[in-house]
Amino acid sequence: MKSKTQQRYNRIAGLYDVLEAPMEHMFSKWRRELLKETRGKTLEVGIGTGKNIKYYPPGVELTGIDFSEKMLDKARKRAGKHPGVKLILLDAENMDFDDNTFDTVVTSCVFCSVPHPVQGLKEIKRVCKNGGKILMLEHVRSQKKTVGKIMDFLNPLPLNIYGANINRRTYENLLKAGFNPGNIRVENVWSDIVKLIRITNS
Ligand SMILES: C[S@@+](CC[C@H](N)C(=O)[O-])C[C@H]1O[C@@H](n2cnc3c(N)ncnc32)[C@H](O)[C@@H]1O
Repeated sequence: MKSKTQQRYNRIAGLYDVLEAPMEHMFSKWRRELLKETRGKTLEVGIGTGKNIKYYPPGVELTGIDFSEKMLDKARKRAGKHPGVKLILLDAENMDFDDNTFDTVVTSCVFCSVPHPVQGLKEIKRVCKNGGKILMLEHVRSQKKTVGKIMDFLNPLPLNIYGANINRRTYENLLKAGFNPGNIRVENVWSDIVKLIRITNS
């Protein structure tokens, strides 16, 4: 049975890039910055409409997964210009990849949406090689008291339209998933809300 989040992304897929266009001006520079660090066998979790595909350096062997078939259809069109990209309909919370498979795992604006984020992060930890890199561009709940409360109050809006939460505590979820805080580097790129998170898996 499809989760509400899957249904919401299937519903919004046709309009997703248009709705996101105003934000993309800012996000594209962060995508470019982060993705130039990808190497080798790379997994992108929640690849969506495939906006990141054009930013991967040559030589990267990319597999993208998403659990929304409609978002993945859009990604397939983009991937057409980049031969070798593999796209699979798959739930990030239960991936059928072996342990220690990928040199790099990428997420961008995904852990706002994954229904059980700690489970998804545990799976990423499992499929990423020991010593591999996990690169994340994610928006999270602000730590600022009033801003955080406003985000909690407004959260049902994006959640019901898109399936995305604006008040996820992704750093805390990483710790719950078993990542070592000493291996996590967090860079705030827009206030304390949008972050580039770089992790060395261990
Ligand atoms: C906000 S979109 C971001 C898409 C893309 N990463 C980007 O940067 O534009 C979130 C995507 O994550 C996918 N997603 C959420 N939970 C997922 C899960 N458990 N497994 C696979 N994909 C998931 C959604 O279907 C959606 O395509």
